[in-house]
Amino acid sequence: MKAQVHVCQDAEALAAHAAQWIVDLIGRHEADPEIDWPFSLALAGGTTPKAMYQAMAAMPAGKIAWERIILLWGDERHVPPEHPDSNYRMVKEALLDHIDIPAENVLAVPEPGGDATLAARNYERVLKETMHGRNRKFPKVDCILLGLGKDVHTASLFPHTSALKEKSKLVTANEVPQLDTTRITFTPPMINAARNIAFIINGAEKMDALSILWHGPRDTQQYPAQLIQPTDGSLHFFLDKHIMGNIPLPESVMVQLI
Ligand code: 6PG
Repeated sequence: MKAQVHVCQDAEALAAHAAQWIVDLIGRHEADPEIDWPFSLALAGGTTPKAMYQAMAAMPAGKIAWERIILLWGDERHVPPEHPDSNYRMVKEALLDHIDIPAENVLAVPEPGGDATLAARNYERVLKETMHGRNRKFPKVDCILLGLGKDVHTASLFPHTSALKEKSKLVTANEVPQLDTTRITFTPPMINAARNIAFIINGAEKMDALSILWHGPRDTQQYPAQLIQPTDGSLHFFLDKHIMGNIPLPESVMVQLI
């Protein structure tokens, strides 16, 4: 696996480093004369990335040119945006309420608490209409952030669910019997098309999941995060050192100790 592993001292350093990495990525995007589209950032849900979003929100005004950034959600729960479980609400509280970003740049899943299939179809249409590279089969998000579940799921790609086999949709409604719910999620090919994919993983309880992700056994239906392999983009892991434990690094990864 070709990846860059960023090992941070603790959760706080992880959040700060990952936030700064995004700032640097945006800076390179802005400085590239070949690039004339806004930077698109697909946010991860759950709890781990919240501190990173708070770190981004705390940056000095102007550090991040939010007017030139498109925010997306890599997955969303099947609840209204004001619901405590909503990934949109988590991002709103950690980031959106503290930054000056044009409303039209915030592309959340439409009506996630309604008909999940319709929400997924509508979100796909939004992505196809607004994302750079819409003429591609899968528009290339500039950066997709992902978490990792203890069951080695990522986004809302849970073990043995239908979304794992989706090859043509960008976004799909995914029934998750393990949680007795339906989720709206980017599909594996949509994620893999991204220019940069970054796993943000914190906590010793994720050690086994990371070990399986890196070293197997290989079984993408049982361990869906193993499906994440960038088509031609970069892959990064932002970890706190406690999760590393004694997990051997995969071959050919670059390690950065923060
Ligand atoms: C979600 C996420 C999910 C999450 C992992 C890790 O909507 O819950 O997209 O994939 O990233 O479950 O969650 P924690 O960060 O809470 O451990």
